[in-house]
Amino acid sequence: MTTIINGKELADKMQGALKIEVESLKEQGTQPGLVVLLVGENPASQTYVKNKELAAQKMGLHSKVARYPETITETELLAEIEKYNQDAAFHGILVQLPLPKQIDAEKVLLAIDPKKDVDGFHPMNLGKLFAGSPEMIPCTPYGIMKMFEEYKIDLAGKNAVVIGRSNIVGKPMAHLLLAENATVTMTHSQTKNLPAVAKAADILVVAIGRGHFVTKDFVKEGAVVIDVGMNRDENGKLIGDVAFDEVAPLASYITPVPKGVGPMTITMLLAQTVEAAKREEGKK
Ligand code: GUN
Repeated sequence: MTTIINGKELADKMQGALKIEVESLKEQGTQPGLVVLLVGENPASQTYVKNKELAAQKMGLHSKVARYPETITETELLAEIEKYNQDAAFHGILVQLPLPKQIDAEKVLLAIDPKKDVDGFHPMNLGKLFAGSPEMIPCTPYGIMKMFEEYKIDLAGKNAVVIGRSNIVGKPMAHLLLAENATVTMTHSQTKNLPAVAKAADILVVAIGRGHFVTKDFVKEGAVVIDVGMNRDENGKLIGDVAFDEVAPLASYITPVPKGVGPMTITMLLAQTVEAAKREEGKK
């Protein structure tokens, strides 16, 4: 039997609990604040940022979207980040990616105060995660770990295969799985015999960014399949990296697209903003 992991339902439940926590923090004089810096007019980024803003407002967070023209210089953007680093009203800072060509994204991520880096992309936070003492965790893999917890999916000793090696999803995912004692294999576009490698997985996490890339030939009977993909098909419909209809009958658990991993990513962003605010509050 296949269980479809309901990311939307879990996200709603966690956001309900977060809202109560935010209310209590506000009563103690702290309103968690999140600022999202958006450069240019990339339509996908506009949608992601709008969703983040709406969710933050719904939680009662102090929420701001700072918009900049496509032509902003690196120096100007770095100065804006420094301004928000110093602004106590914001506990979380997120710079929406991708950035225009004239701006070095690595420099930008380095400029964010690691204590406010709610995306978990600063090398300091990635380093802490890789060293086994995470503080800010990239939100998508963090959300996936919450799904495993909610559905009581045991990871210890399991063969976990991660397809995709981005700093945002694949690499941090591998470290989180490792921390829960899974045996982790990282794969990518140049892995030989990828279907055979994937087929050994008890836990298969797919973040390769290619619509319906993972077919039933990649999946062992009874595997847990997590689909991070957000692709558009030829009709503009949102589709995952996994060919859901043919893979689902094989899987023990599977996430759909939409309403799978996506809602959890935003939820973890809000959760980390609240955590950052609590850490600051503790210092007062
Ligand atoms: N662009 C696409 N996904 C993300 C994300 O999770 N964080 C940021 N900052 N930019 C993104």
